[in-house]
Amino acid sequence: MTGRFYGLGVGPGAPDLLTLRAHRVLTRVPVVVYPACKPGASSYAWRIVREFVPGGTRRLAQVFPMSRDWASLIPVWRQNAEEIAQELRAGHDVAFITEGDPMLFSTFLHVWELLREVAPEVEVEIVPGVSSMCAAAGLTGIPLGQGDQRVALIPATWHEDDLTDALQRWDVVVLMKVARVLPKVIDLLRSLGRLEQAALVSRGSAEQQLVTRDLERYRDRRLNYLTTVLVGRPLGFVESLLAESAAGEPEDEPNDKETT
Ligand SMILES: C[S@@+](CC[C@H](N)C(=O)[O-])C[C@H]1O[C@@H](n2cnc3c(N)ncnc32)[C@H](O)[C@@H]1O
Repeated sequence: MTGRFYGLGVGPGAPDLLTLRAHRVLTRVPVVVYPACKPGASSYAWRIVREFVPGGTRRLAQVFPMSRDWASLIPVWRQNAEEIAQELRAGHDVAFITEGDPMLFSTFLHVWELLREVAPEVEVEIVPGVSSMCAAAGLTGIPLGQGDQRVALIPATWHEDDLTDALQRWDVVVLMKVARVLPKVIDLLRSLGRLEQAALVSRGSAEQQLVTRDLERYRDRRLNYLTTVLVGRPLGFVESLLAESAAGEPEDEPNDKETT
C-alpha cells in the first residue's frame, strides 16, 4: 500500500511549540524529510524536532537551493518529489518537515505540487504548525489584527512602490524575508511615519532569538534569513471604540421617523 505523505509544520523554533499532532506523526513515521539550502548544510526545521525523532527513523536531507533562478530550481524540486514518491510507493509514510506552518511560504508547497504530478495517487495530510508571524506577534506585543483592522502579509523583497502602497493602506503589515533589504525598509517606514510602530524578530522563539523595536541599530548588521518586521497600529482599540460611542456616531442614533 502506498504510504501517506505528511506536510508537517514544526513551529517557529522552540521545540515546545511543536503541536501534539506533529509530535505523534514524528514518532510514528519511518522517514523524515527535511530541507537544506546546500548539501551538508544544517537544517533549522530538523534542529527543532531532532530530540523527538526516534533513533530508528530514516532522515532524508533534500537540497532546495536559495535562488531566484526558477528554471534551474524546478528540476531539483521535481527530483526531490520523485525521491519522496519512491519512498511512498515502497509503502513508507513520509513526513516532510517545515519550519512554521507548511501552508505559508514553505518549500513543502513546491514539493507537494510536483508530487501531485509525479504520484497523484498519494494521500497527503497537512499538519499545521505555529507560524513565525504568530510567534512574532506574541514576542513583540503587536497584534496581527484586532476588531476591523486590515492585515497584509508580504515579502519585503517586493518592489518599493508596492511596499509603500501596502504600508499606506493596511493597518498591520507583516514583512517577511526582510533581512537583506532592512535599510530600504527602515527608510520607507520612517518616510511614512511608521517606524515607531515597527518591531523586528529574528529566529523568534529559538534560543538565539532577537526581538527589538530599535530597527536602526540593526540597519547594517548581517541578519539571519529568518527575520520578520511587524508593523502595527498603536494599542487602544477598545478605548477608541468607547470614545467613538461617547461622541455618538450619526448612524447609531435612534431614527425618529422609523420609531413613530
Ligand atoms: C520561507 S518563509 C517561511 C514561513 C514559515 N512557513 C512560517 O509559517 O512562518 C521564511 C520567512 O519566514 C519568516 N520567519 C520564519 N521563521 C521565523 C522566525 N523564527 N522568526 C522570525 N521570522 C521567521 C522570515 O521572514 C523568513 O524570511
